[in-house]
Amino acid sequence: MKPELKIYPDKQALSKDFAKELKMLINSKDKVTIALSGGSTPKIIFDIIAEEAAEAIKWENVHFYWVDERCVPPTDSDSNYKMTVDHLLSKVNIPKGNVHRMVGENTPAEEATRYAKEIEAGVPAVNGVPQFDLVLLGMGDDGHTASVFPYQINLWDSPNLCEVAAHPESGQNRITITGKVINHAKQIAFLVTGKGKAEKVRVITKEEAGAEQFPASLVSKENLTWYLDKEAAGEI
Ligand code: 6PG
Repeated sequence: MKPELKIYPDKQALSKDFAKELKMLINSKDKVTIALSGGSTPKIIFDIIAEEAAEAIKWENVHFYWVDERCVPPTDSDSNYKMTVDHLLSKVNIPKGNVHRMVGENTPAEEATRYAKEIEAGVPAVNGVPQFDLVLLGMGDDGHTASVFPYQINLWDSPNLCEVAAHPESGQNRITITGKVINHAKQIAFLVTGKGKAEKVRVITKEEAGAEQFPASLVSKENLTWYLDKEAAGEI
């Protein structure tokens, strides 16, 4: 099964279209569970939603979780939660109980265990595994996704829902959900923009030799849509 590829002239056009899809999904049923990523594209999407669709979305329907988080307090500029608060959550009327942050200031191993339980408590399970309605993913220039980096690619296949990872250069700890949860989602969206991603996008979407060393290549092709700008799609 081939994933769907959507290619847009620029980040802005991609974000506008994705924001529209997000609105439709959230308004479609009483409880919608979404796992959010950090990164540059979600930031623009959040800005667009806050500006254009804040009133039109039934915020009480949606429960936000995170794909990954840096192990820092929620006030730190590195925090994915802080980015989401600044660009979206502080501007819309979402019930506090619908926001399930990874607690970056907790001891990493304890937080990975605690967060797995929080997911299990709130995300309906299918065949014994929690199933998000939508997981948003980005891809790093090195082919990482969530916080599964190429040098720790084995974390993808962990039997656990969440793991502790470390950034390969800074050593900063991260909490990440694993392939077990990501690939079980009803829908997966890869949001990838910029020239720096073009080569990896080609290698992974065309399943070229060597693709398997990149965690982004392990994302299930079923229910997957790539949202690319022209630059990221430049080699396909
Ligand atoms: C994080 C992310 C990470 C991100 C990619 C892409 O917290 O670092 O969740 O996996 O999605 O690095 O980031 P950009 O969209 O900024 O390229």
